[in-house]
Amino acid sequence: MVTPGTFIKASLSAGKEFFRPPVDVVARAPHRPPVLVPIRSIGPTHGERIEKHLLALDPHDRYLRFGYAARDEQIQRYVAGLNFERDEIFGIYNRKLELIAMAHLALSIDPELKSCAEFGVSVLKHARGRGYGARLFDRAVMHSRNEGVSMMFIHALSENTAMLNIARKAGAVIERDGSESEAYLKLPPADLDSRMTEIVEEQIAQTDYRLKVQAKQFWDLLAMVQEVRQGVRDSRDRMPI
Ligand SMILES: CC(C)(COP(=O)(O)OP(=O)(O)OC[C@H]1O[C@@H](n2cnc3c(N)ncnc32)[C@H](O)[C@@H]1OP(=O)(O)O)[C@@H](O)C(=O)NCCC(=O)NCCS
Repeated sequence: MVTPGTFIKASLSAGKEFFRPPVDVVARAPHRPPVLVPIRSIGPTHGERIEKHLLALDPHDRYLRFGYAARDEQIQRYVAGLNFERDEIFGIYNRKLELIAMAHLALSIDPELKSCAEFGVSVLKHARGRGYGARLFDRAVMHSRNEGVSMMFIHALSENTAMLNIARKAGAVIERDGSESEAYLKLPPADLDSRMTEIVEEQIAQTDYRLKVQAKQFWDLLAMVQEVRQGVRDSRDRMPI
């Protein structure tokens, strides 16, 4: 049984962990400032945003993400078929509440391969190179461990240097088979630290999202007030003196 003392210690260490620059991200890019970004787990109510994010990918990115240049209808079918109960979808939102980066961690449906999961990710072009892809990967690794997954798979085209870089830096074994590559990462079992860190990160990301929603509502309201003011000014200027 976990004693209250151990729990508090683990909770504090998880909190510190969140604010500490992720070690592997720093190791990945010592020249770049560390990436601290709230990543939240996304539910089915965000289906429209997920679809918008994926539809914004150009044909080449769709090819890299899905292994074929998915048409709009195929993306819509993919989103409609997402299983939010079994799988995990993670996302990074900007201040306008646009989903700028997302990852899909698909847990195995085969009961004999319950300890396997597949990772897929996409980051909108304008948000690339900031470490979001790597952070989503780290988050998926932590969640996988906590779900009892021991092997994470990444299917990537061999030309996909960025994705293979992320996997390689995390210690994945990469097997190249012509134009396609299969990467797999063996995961250590969950521990109290991984469990607490995920809880704290999720709480912080949910709070961050709620603040962004409030800020957006406030700015939208201000914009509306500005519009009304402008309308009043315009009609006053048009009035005969
Ligand atoms: C792959 C992808 C998710 C990477 O996202 P990102 O946020 O730009 O990645 P990061 O900033 O975390 O960078 C990860 C690593 O890749 C490297 N990298 C990024 N873009 C690169 C590029 N165009 N060419 C080569 N390396 C690149 C980074 O330098 C970094 O390596 P480093 O740690 O050694 O510096 C993004 O390019 C993407 O969405 N591509 C289209 C969809 C896709 O390919 N999905 C993956 C298949 S499932």
